[in-house]
Amino acid sequence: MKVDGQTFRTIWLADDGEAVVIIDQTKFPHAFETLELSTVEQAAHAIRTMQVRGAPLIGATAAYGIALAIRQDPSDAALLAACDTLLATRPTAVNLRWALDIARQELTQIAPESRAAAAYALAHRICDEDVAINRAIGTHGLEVIKRIAQTKKPGEAVNILTHCNAGWLATVDWGTATAPVYMAHDSGIPVHVWVDETRPRNQGAFLTAWELGHHGVPHTVIVDNAGGHLMQHGKVDMVIVGTDRTTADGDVCNKIGTYLKALAARDNNVPFYVALPSPTIDFTLADGLRQIPIEERAAAEISQMTGRSAKGSVETIEIVAPGSETANPAFDVTPARLVTGLITERGIVAPNRQAIAEAFPDRVMAQSA
Ligand code: MRU
Repeated sequence: MKVDGQTFRTIWLADDGEAVVIIDQTKFPHAFETLELSTVEQAAHAIRTMQVRGAPLIGATAAYGIALAIRQDPSDAALLAACDTLLATRPTAVNLRWALDIARQELTQIAPESRAAAAYALAHRICDEDVAINRAIGTHGLEVIKRIAQTKKPGEAVNILTHCNAGWLATVDWGTATAPVYMAHDSGIPVHVWVDETRPRNQGAFLTAWELGHHGVPHTVIVDNAGGHLMQHGKVDMVIVGTDRTTADGDVCNKIGTYLKALAARDNNVPFYVALPSPTIDFTLADGLRQIPIEERAAAEISQMTGRSAKGSVETIEIVAPGSETANPAFDVTPARLVTGLITERGIVAPNRQAIAEAFPDRVMAQSA
């Protein structure tokens, strides 16, 4: 995507062809800063501290992390240790395990002296595949938006609600939930996005709003609790969210608060779509509620808030009564029965085992191998 006229992906190689450059997402929306990663430890730190985040970008960063490890030590032991280090960074987004499984399977077949080049090539391939997948999700999601525009909102903007950031910053490019939005906007279909702020880390207010603003897409940031009210008043035509892990039965794990949006959408007959790239499907799990590990994050994410003060400096302040306990589950699971459709790179897929397996027979085979 473009930032002030310059084309960016979220991750790329430095001029030396070896170090990896990322956009430091902890600095948004106050600054656009890039950061160079030279070691696997730095890649792991970037994922853990959410300098990079979003399921597809976590997978892509892990792939580059493996390349950084192997350029220092191409042995089997170093490869397996790097996989362990990276896998321990964040538990919920399955793209991390997906990328590391591929790296381990492919690279152990290659002689150590050729491994570094193969690891970089693999990371490039994972990135390019992510961009192609998201572009395809965009074209399929665009058809859904077009249909709503023609049948329900001729001459008016289609109002789309989204939660968290499943935009291009969460992927290598395009985003998943935002790809159909960008394509609709670019093709002249009027769209307006309700952006959930997404407490506690404010990925909506900090990242999605920044992205949409830079692309010129009309949007409005709302507090996380406003969506149900807007739906009751006919102000939301559809919901599109991303996902960190979707089970073989179609249960969708995504940023905390997604489930409440799905409940409100069902109560108000608002279509609830999930943009789902196939690397985010976990064919080894069926029951999302009981089987998906939910990341618990630090109390400070709830008790503190960072923003720009009236004087212009970025400051962190305390916002919770001193001494109160906090709990910070970072994701929740929306049962398949609340999902209208999965927008995948192979079209709109019903959220059930048979439809998902029929759409991705090759992926089912690969994961059960
Ligand atoms: O904790 P985060 O910011 O990594 O969570 C991100 C999300 O929940 C996204 O919706 C999901 O990863 C899909 S990104 C295309």
